[in-house]
Amino acid sequence: MREFLIAGNWKMNGSIAASEELAAGIVAGMPEGGGFRVLVCPPFPYLAAVSRQLEGSAVALGAQNVSAHKAGAHTGETSPSMLKDVGCEFVIVGHSERRAMYGETSVQVATKFQAAQANGLTPILCVGETLQEREAGTTESVINEQLDAVLDAAGVVAFAAAVIAYEPVWAIGTGKTATPDQAQDVHRHIRARLAEEDSALAESVQILYGGSMKSENASGLLAMPDIDGGLIGGASLQASDFLAIAGAAAQG
Ligand code: 13P
Repeated sequence: MREFLIAGNWKMNGSIAASEELAAGIVAGMPEGGGFRVLVCPPFPYLAAVSRQLEGSAVALGAQNVSAHKAGAHTGETSPSMLKDVGCEFVIVGHSERRAMYGETSVQVATKFQAAQANGLTPILCVGETLQEREAGTTESVINEQLDAVLDAAGVVAFAAAVIAYEPVWAIGTGKTATPDQAQDVHRHIRARLAEEDSALAESVQILYGGSMKSENASGLLAMPDIDGGLIGGASLQASDFLAIAGAAAQG
């Protein structure tokens, strides 16, 4: 039985004080019950401050990106062991903003995925198509290319200790959410692709939905059989909004 994972991607927002307040608000308002986990992914400079706020709570810490390298002359980069050191359990890799704006290729993303796992971090691998790709009918092939880079590099077994997030690019920050059926179709496809390699393992992998997820649409999305949580941007920046989504998972 898969648990829900409700993850907040704070992106490049906030300050030390705002991050501490948001983290404290989430800890204080965590819904009762089991069957779900909550994760926050603040910007790098605030990881340590947020880590302190989360101490002793059930809320996990993650980062938004990671270097594929261990240490050394990589100005401006952050290694997996540094993220572990500061208390991270998860790291997002291959977010569409990094692929589109910073030129990250699927092969580079696969390298980051492996580096994260090698250091005991759970990678959250983001995949998703643009509107143009969806309209051209290439959604599944785009996602296959993104998944296959990791399957080729790390093998299907690597997904036993990883999370996938389906984030249609056209739904990110646009207020346009995929309908539960649209999202479910792609989630089912992702699971089927993994099942071609290992059907039991495919059943255990958490696949999150991301793209304008909010309290109003969370229950409908989380009710779908292959949707195991959310990767939430805008609605993760207010404790009450984010907790409402966690509440939907707690009831689901
Ligand atoms: P929004 O929830 O703001 O659409 O962002 C989704 C996202 O990109 C999470 O990684």
